[in-house]
Order: sequence, then structure tokens, then C-alpha cells
Amino acid sequence: MISATHTHSGPAGYLDQVLYQVTSYGIVPGEREALAAGIVSAIVAAHNDLSASSLEIGVGQLFDANINRSPPSYLANPAEERALYNGNTDTNMTQLAVRDAAGNLRGAASWFAVHGTSMNNTNDLVSGDNKGFASYLWELAQGSDFVAAFGQTNAGDVSPNTNGPVCQDTGAPCDGGKESCGGNILLCIAHGPGFTSAGDLGGDFASTRIIGTKQFETAREIAASGTGVTTTGPVLFRHAFVDMTDVVLPDGNHTCKPAMGYSFAAGTTDGVATQIAWQGDNTTNYDNPLIDIARDILHPPSAELTACQAPKPILLATGEMTFPYDWDPHVLPLQIFVVGRKFVIIGFPSEITTMSGRRLRKSTLDALIAGGTVDADAHIVIAGLSNHYASYVTTFEEYGVQRYEGASTLFGPHTLQAYQSLFSQMATSFSDPSASLAPGTPPADVKDLSFITAVVLDTTPIGSSFGAVTIQPPAVAHTGDTVTATFQCSHPRPGPGGPGSFMTVDVLNGGEWAVFLDDAGWDTKFHWKREGSSESLCVVTWNVGATVNVPAGTYRLTYNGVHTTFGFHASHSGSTDAFQ
Ligand SMILES: *[C@@H]1O[C@H](CO)[C@@H](O)[C@H](O)[C@H]1NC(C)=O
Ligand SMILES: *[C@@H]1O[C@H](CO)[C@@H](O)[C@H](O)[C@H]1NC(C)=O
Ligand SMILES: *[C@@H]1O[C@H](CO)[C@@H](O)[C@H](O)[C@H]1NC(C)=O
Ligand SMILES: *[C@@H]1O[C@H](CO)[C@@H](O)[C@H](O)[C@H]1NC(C)=O
Repeated sequence: MISATHTHSGPAGYLDQVLYQVTSYGIVPGEREALAAGIVSAIVAAHNDLSASSLEIGVGQLFDANINRSPPSYLANPAEERALYNGNTDTNMTQLAVRDAAGNLRGAASWFAVHGTSMNNTNDLVSGDNKGFASYLWELAQGSDFVAAFGQTNAGDVSPNTNGPVCQDTGAPCDGGKESCGGNILLCIAHGPGFTSAGDLGGDFASTRIIGTKQFETAREIAASGTGVTTTGPVLFRHAFVDMTDVVLPDGNHTCKPAMGYSFAAGTTDGVATQIAWQGDNTTNYDNPLIDIARDILHPPSAELTACQAPKPILLATGEMTFPYDWDPHVLPLQIFVVGRKFVIIGFPSEITTMSGRRLRKSTLDALIAGGTVDADAHIVIAGLSNHYASYVTTFEEYGVQRYEGASTLFGPHTLQAYQSLFSQMATSFSDPSASLAPGTPPADVKDLSFITAVVLDTTPIGSSFGAVTIQPPAVAHTGDTVTATFQCSHPRPGPGGPGSFMTVDVLNGGEWAVFLDDAGWDTKFHWKREGSSESLCVVTWNVGATVNVPAGTYRLTYNGVHTTFGFHASHSGSTDAFQ
């Protein structure tokens, strides 16, 4: 099970469907290979480190770290159902911790429902966002033998921007229905707790820190609390590739081919997409006829798709768009792990809303308990965005409101019921093999297109060379300073070379330079800029001591790159003068 978290700051262009390639102009050459290589090396390292361990389940509460970003949708759920819960987001953090035979904590996966969108969609630095920051902090605190994973669970309608949506021009609340300010949705933005004023230039970094730190601290408290429950027994699994476009439910309802509604184009208050539609848009006659014309040029939705997806007004008939290949997935991987008698993980290939997640957890766990596969006090988590990505899943009632999440629920109003039915069958199949789903076949590989110009040539000015330092750092720096150096560099595609880092902070230890921080660190940044047609300048910065304490000593900044000369690649590096 490979489970991702949502970030607006990740590299793009590696999924097979057109919709997920639009913003990156198709596939990004080398991107998928780099991700796959990293994932495979992590799996190999884990496999080579197998040893007898115990698995401990813990649950803690985290408040003030998430808010619901689609309250009008949530309120469409039945009042009796809403009354069962404290609020419109889940505040539980559920943890599976790994201890070695001596009882030492070796790793933990901690699921908490919040989007990784503290870094906003105008940031262009690669970042693991609040989940990545939580992981970074805990691994720093615990030492190198420890792995901390922070999973995104039923966070489909859950934002980390806890200050809530506000009109950026007046400071007044947005109109809650359309999330607009006098008709302008671009002004209605929710900021995280780190923003101190409109236009705050570091606000999203500060928010990432705050929301990430809260998740880290809660996870560490759960592991240290001594209240964990051990789960023992076999690890069981089921996996199936299912064509989600025509799942027939016992009541006769069925799913549809994929389609995106108008509000998909509006985005959310975490990141407005375009001004052509608003959230909750359920009319097909939009004020601006150009949108309908643009839609019909791409592909007019068929009458069958329109009826099946109702009340969703279809903007993109992605399920009927196959040029140059599928715009949205049709066949999806469904997976479930039963870890001993007391822990269950649903590998879910989409982002699922708060109430949808509660329903899916309950129906799946009920089936497992009824079959005697797990104990009555077993815990269940949804690992969202697992094994593939297929946008959002809402409840039937939320779908009717057609906000961003409902507009992005691909397979029609009964998408959640279909998933509940399929996961119940998988759960039942552990005790009754006749309930098993067919294993299915994975979707065929496609020959992805890329519209990104290849890097043809990197050069340096005459008399300079790759890795030359054009601006040196100061001779002395202190905790709290930002140290900066500029290097003559190359286009950062195809990468830093080998398993390397684009930059490092090195420390002098007994006459030898050793890496102190790299580009995965939170205190370091690497910026690249093209100069003219083939030259590049790279700025490396280090916020000394912001996250990682820095002992007095001798340091330098190093840059690593690979330059391209008409299809040939060569690596290079450069270091600044030493500084104190
Ligand atoms: C939160 O965890 C507690 C303790 O395991 C559990 O009783 C409760 O049902 C959970 N809440 C939700 C919304 O899942
Ligand atoms: C994103 O955050 C930065 C500050 O970190 C801010 O300048 C920018 O306006 C924000 N953009 C949006 C769309 O919220
Ligand atoms: C389909 O779903 C709707 C809404 O949940 C329900 O009212 C209806 O009875 C279901 N069955 C059929 C055959 O339409
Ligand atoms: C659109 O939504 C409004 C407000 O919720 C509702 O009154 C109207 O009936 C809906 N229209 C359609 C076509 O579903």
C-alpha cells in the first residue's frame, strides 16, 4: 500500500490521466522514475531491516489544527447522523507504532484528518507541507533509526487554514454559500494560523510549522502515553482492481463514468482555481456563455452521463474524453489490511470527506466484526490517496450541494455507497471466500505525452564555470541569520546527480567536511533562475538555527548539479568559502 498526502508543493506530472497532467503540461520527464526509485529504495531498506517487532495502537485528540472548508455540504447530512459526532471534522489521531524486541520505538504511522495545504498554491518550492514537517520534526527528535509517517485520512473537506475564509480586501467574512466577496471568489481565501496580516510574506511557512508541530506533538504524546494496545495475529490483505464506472448497488442504483462539475473549476478557499464558477454551482446556464462553449469544444457530455451524474452540472465530461488518453481513471485499486485482531487499514484511492470516511469506516468494520475477523474493539483507519488518485468522494447528501468536493466526486451521486459495498465485500471475504471480489486487471500503461520543452543546453558566462560562487556568504553568521550564497548553476532537471541533494550545509569535523543539512531540511532553500537562454543562477539559503540547533563551528554551503549539452549530461558541484 503506497499512501500519499495532498500537497500543493509537490512535483507534478507523474499520474497517467490527462486531468492530473494539465497543470504540468503533460508528464514531466524523469519525474516518475525519480519517485519510483525513492519509493523502491525505501521498501528495500525496510525489507533489509526486518526484525521481530510489536505493533501498538494509540488514539489521541488534536484540536485547533483543522476546520471544515465546506460546512454547507456537511450540514446537508441528516441531523441524527451529525448528532453522533462532536463536530464537522474528526479530531482523533490514530497511531500504529512499531517497537523492537527491546521495546524501543522504531517507527510510527499517525493518521490525522487534515489537508497538507498550509503551503499555498502560489509557493513554488517543493515541500512536504504540514505532514512532511511533522515527520521531519519527530525524526529529528528521535534520531536516525526512527521513521515517522503522517497520513492523510478522511480529510477531503478538511483544511489546515484554521483562520477561516475571509475577504482579502475588506477583512469581512465571505458569503458562505459561494465563498465569494461581492461576487469575486478570488478574494475569498482561508489562511492558516501563521498569517498575521494580509499579504504576509512568510505566513504560509509559519502556518506549516504550527500545524505540523501540533501533529508531531500529539503523535509523540500518544506514543509516550503508555496507553497503547498491542495488536497480535496475522497480517491479512485483500486487493482488487475495480471498474468504478458501472458498479450496481443492491438497491439498483449505479455509478457513472467520471465527470467534473462546475464548482471543480472554482477550487476551494485553500486555493482558488479560476473565476469562471463558484462553489455550490448547480446551474448549467452559467452567466458566461463562453464557458459552456469551451466545454462543448472539449466534449459535450452525453445525455446518459448528464442524467447519471445529476444534479451535478457537468463542466468536463472526463469519463467520455479519451483523447489523447483517458482524462480520469476508470479502474481503481482497492485494498485492505487487517493487522492482527485489532487494527484495520483501508487503502482508499481518493480524498474522502469527514462524514463519508465515518460511514466507510463503520460499514467496513461492522463486516469484519460480523465475520469474526477482528475483535469487537478493533480500530480502523482510512489511508487516503492510496495506490492511485481519483479526486474526491462525498456522501450522497453532500454531493447534492455540489461544492468543490461534490463537483470532484467522479463516479456520480452513489460513489460512496459503491465504495462501501465493495469494501464490505472485501471485509466479508476474509471469513466467507464466496464474497471475494475478482482480482481485476490493472489499467493498461499509456504512452504519456509531454509538452514541456526539453533542457537542451546549459552554459556559463565566459571565464566562469558550473559551481562557481558569484556571491559568497558573510564570514560570520549567528543563530537567527539567513545565510545566502549564489552559484553559477544549471537547469535543475535532470536532478542533482545520483541520490544527491541540490545543496548541502557542510560542517568541518576533525579536518573533514561532513553534511550537516541537505535540501530536505526545513531551514534550507534552493532557488533556481534561468538567465538568458542557457545560463542559470542558483541561490542557496540557510536560516541558521530556525529548526535545527547549530553548534559554533566552521561551515560552508555546497551546490550540486548536472548540466546538459545537447543530450549529454555531466555532474558538477561547488562550495563557498568557509564561514563561522
Ligand atoms: C475517536 O476515538 C475514540 C477512541 O478510540 C472512539 O471512541 C471514537 O469513536 C473516535 N471518533 C471518531 C469520530 O472516529
Ligand atoms: C500564499 O502565501 C504567501 C505568503 O507566504 C502570500 O504572499 C500569497 O499571497 C499567498 N497566496 C494565496 C493565493 O493565498
Ligand atoms: C437510489 O438512490 C436513491 C437515493 O439514495 C433512493 O432514493 C432510491 O430508492 C435508490 N434506488 C433506486 C432504484 O433508485
Ligand atoms: C440549485 O441550488 C439552489 C439552492 O440550493 C436550489 O434552490 C435549486 O433548486 C437548485 N437547482 C437545481 C437545478 O438543482
